[in-house]
Amino acid sequence: MTKVVVLSMIKLGDDMLVNFIDMLNKAKQNKYAVPHFNINDLEWTKYILEECEELKVPVILGVSEGACKYMGGFNTIYGMVTGLMKDLNITIPVCLHVDHGQSFELCKSAIDAGFTSVMIDASKHKLEENIRITKEVVDYAHKHNVSVEAEVGHIGGTEDNISAEAMNATLEDCLTMYNETGIDSLAPALGSVHGVYKGEPNLDFERMSQINEALPIPLVLHGASGIPGDKIEKAIASGTSKINVNTDFQIVWAEAVRKKLDEDKEVYDPRKVIGAGEQAIKEKIKEKVALFKTRLD
Ligand code: 13P
Repeated sequence: MTKVVVLSMIKLGDDMLVNFIDMLNKAKQNKYAVPHFNINDLEWTKYILEECEELKVPVILGVSEGACKYMGGFNTIYGMVTGLMKDLNITIPVCLHVDHGQSFELCKSAIDAGFTSVMIDASKHKLEENIRITKEVVDYAHKHNVSVEAEVGHIGGTEDNISAEAMNATLEDCLTMYNETGIDSLAPALGSVHGVYKGEPNLDFERMSQINEALPIPLVLHGASGIPGDKIEKAIASGTSKINVNTDFQIVWAEAVRKKLDEDKEVYDPRKVIGAGEQAIKEKIKEKVALFKTRLD
């Protein structure tokens, strides 16, 4: 009896979540981008699912290692996302994706918990070791119908309070990574950084186009918060099909919550405090989806 219940729960989750392959291939073909929005808690997850359902667009929910620890772990997050999708009657394609997983073990535990996609980020290692770890993840992930993103070069900036030095990807390294691993998407470091930009973002669009022409898989742009609209459009025209956003949401959410606490000295209900940021996040989602020209093909 117990066995039957467990199997049906796994089936339910598998049917609801998808990997990113179909959604990103359509985006690459039709020159738009699918948003990867990072989730940090239950509320943000709910706002993103509700708004993307309203807009009828596919979405990738990104979970960093830090956010995973904060929310309890991969099993908790998988249960939360699939539970919300069921309770909110979500019908759009939703991909549950590990953002910057640093090891095979971490990616494996996300896949075992029901995640449908992983980013293995072994970019702190030399290319040869990056490829070895990425290939191990691809072999395991593909057996479970899970998509894999990898990073070549090194994306700079600050994420989860960890800072990194930037190093741009070369076309040759991107080709080697693709040919030797069979990854499903690639994040080449080309000048974007995580967190708040110091000065004007400086992206190498020429190399982005060269990599896009040389590789049959979709490209990913990390650190999209703070990149002006015309550069986002240029990145999409240069072959970017998945765009990652986190900091822009954190900024507008924090502003709205700070305003609520400043204006209402009596408030103590956490639902009212946290919920004060809902509209700000939903407005930002509308703005990003319009800019990325995301659609449901
Ligand atoms: P931002 O926080 O700069 O938007 O970057 C998000 C990201 O790239 C997640 O991988």
